[in-house]
Amino acid sequence: MDHTPIVYSKAMPDILTVIMRWLHISSMATLVGGILYARLVMAPAVATLSPDSGNELGNKAAAKYRPLAVAAMIGLIISGLYKLLSTPGHTARYQMLFGIKMLLVLHVFAVAFLVVKPDNPRRTRMMTGMLISGLCIVLLSAWLSRIF
Ligand code: HEM
Repeated sequence: MDHTPIVYSKAMPDILTVIMRWLHISSMATLVGGILYARLVMAPAVATLSPDSGNELGNKAAAKYRPLAVAAMIGLIISGLYKLLSTPGHTARYQMLFGIKMLLVLHVFAVAFLVVKPDNPRRTRMMTGMLISGLCIVLLSAWLSRIF
């Protein structure tokens, strides 16, 4: 009979890995998907309103999105660090690509804080850059998962 306490069970790391993968994917869907919707759907719709009404609606949408974006960034950092630290021994090429991913992540995170600020006249242009970087990150991440 196996008397190993449940906390040392081999199933536990698997459950944590699944939870962390879920956290990473849901957080990146919230961040990149939210900006995709805001840039490609909301921004053109808002542009049809008068400047004052458009600005007001943009500010309200940004304020509603702010807590989601912050939660997504925290989720990405926690789950990303978990994944990185739980799979040591990467190749030099992996580390190089991962470094490029981190530079793009810094861009996305920095711009995320700026686009949720009120009265930002450059919001739409900033979201374009953020969306491009976000989609490049998803591509790089798919590549990373193939090269270890
Ligand atoms: C905008 C931010 C980010 C996006 C859009 C993003 C996206 C992704 C995606 C789509 C995957 C593949 C998930 C899977 O197949 O399970 C992934 C994997 C990964 N991410 Fe991120 N991520 C972001 C931020 C971060 C951060 C901040 C870290 C580290 C602190 C990180 C570390 C990792 C690692 C280590 C992997 C595993 C790559 C592999 O398979 O070897 N990510 N990311």
